[in-house]
Amino acid sequence: MSSLPHFTALIEDDIQSVEALMRAPMTGDPPEMRSALELVIAAGGKRIRPSVSLLVGSMLNAPRERLITMAAAIELLHNATLVHDDLIDGALLRRGIPTLNAKWTPAATVLAGDLLFARAAKLAADTESIPAIKMFSETLIRIVGGEVEQLLINRTIHNRADYDRRIYAKTGSLFETAACTAAMISPVNEDTIQNMAAFGRAIGMAFQIIDDILDFTADENTLGKPIGSDLRQGLVTLPALLYFEENAENQLVKAFLSNNLHTENPEIETLISAIRSSIAIAAAHQEAHKLVNYGMDILKRYPASPHRQALEELSHYIVDRTF
Ligand code: IPE
Ligand code: IPE
Ligand code: MG
Ligand code: MG
Repeated sequence: MSSLPHFTALIEDDIQSVEALMRAPMTGDPPEMRSALELVIAAGGKRIRPSVSLLVGSMLNAPRERLITMAAAIELLHNATLVHDDLIDGALLRRGIPTLNAKWTPAATVLAGDLLFARAAKLAADTESIPAIKMFSETLIRIVGGEVEQLLINRTIHNRADYDRRIYAKTGSLFETAACTAAMISPVNEDTIQNMAAFGRAIGMAFQIIDDILDFTADENTLGKPIGSDLRQGLVTLPALLYFEENAENQLVKAFLSNNLHTENPEIETLISAIRSSIAIAAAHQEAHKLVNYGMDILKRYPASPHRQALEELSHYIVDRTF
């Protein structure tokens, strides 16, 4: 992956502490799973969610050790969801390397994901903040709900409200929790806790819109995961939704929505290319920008500081990124 974005400079040491905590052995860890844990954690990733936690918490003077613990719990939870998501999707590549399910049996992959979930829960509990622990578990329920909905809605025409609800559940909720739990352990009032939740939710939903755009537009080597897989799997995301609205009479669109365009059908690639080069991409970008601007308005209610500035940079990075 290319060089780190600028906003990470302030939290470089903290991110290293987060990584160390993610890796640290825990009582009862099955030794057979050690290599899987190492593999998943060493594969890296952008570490964007713990960055949100660390920057929000540092801006609000959270105690450092609890903040790092919460940030590590959030990133482990994210990694656990990816291990299971790739198994569900049959995805063979992530972060530029083969997924666990590309090398292991489904059973072993499920168990590796379970272990990551369990370790995440342990770290969340270590923060000893009951509200944060409660929110953490509720978020996990939401993510599962989002994935279940995604599993069941294949190819159905749905509207923007359904899409928004799904990206909130899948991704917005974890960013919300990353920002909100950092505020919960800080010496701040309820208003600030709610503001940080709203900030996290907005940039998290923008993040998923961009992920959905990149699934059409990115270069597979840069992105490190398969391209075009959403539509190929029957999943209608925002670029597709906007394209379908504008091209309701198009034969390929009709065939797709009536289930006559299957994964093996080369015409699905024609439809993916059509969406890729359509104005639906710019329109979806615009939607992500709106959410990020909303998040920035919330941040502006707080005094200017290096951490606030880094959060602004992180928000821009979310919409400008190419992987
Ligand atoms: C991928 O998340 C899954 C989504 C919610 C879009 P990231 O793009 O943050 O994945 P990594 O952690 O950087 O690999
Ligand atoms: C994954 O979203 C969200 C999870 C909660 C795991 P995606 O399915 O869009 O993530 P990628 O594209 O596989 O990374
Ligand atoms: Mg996926
Ligand atoms: Mg995706």
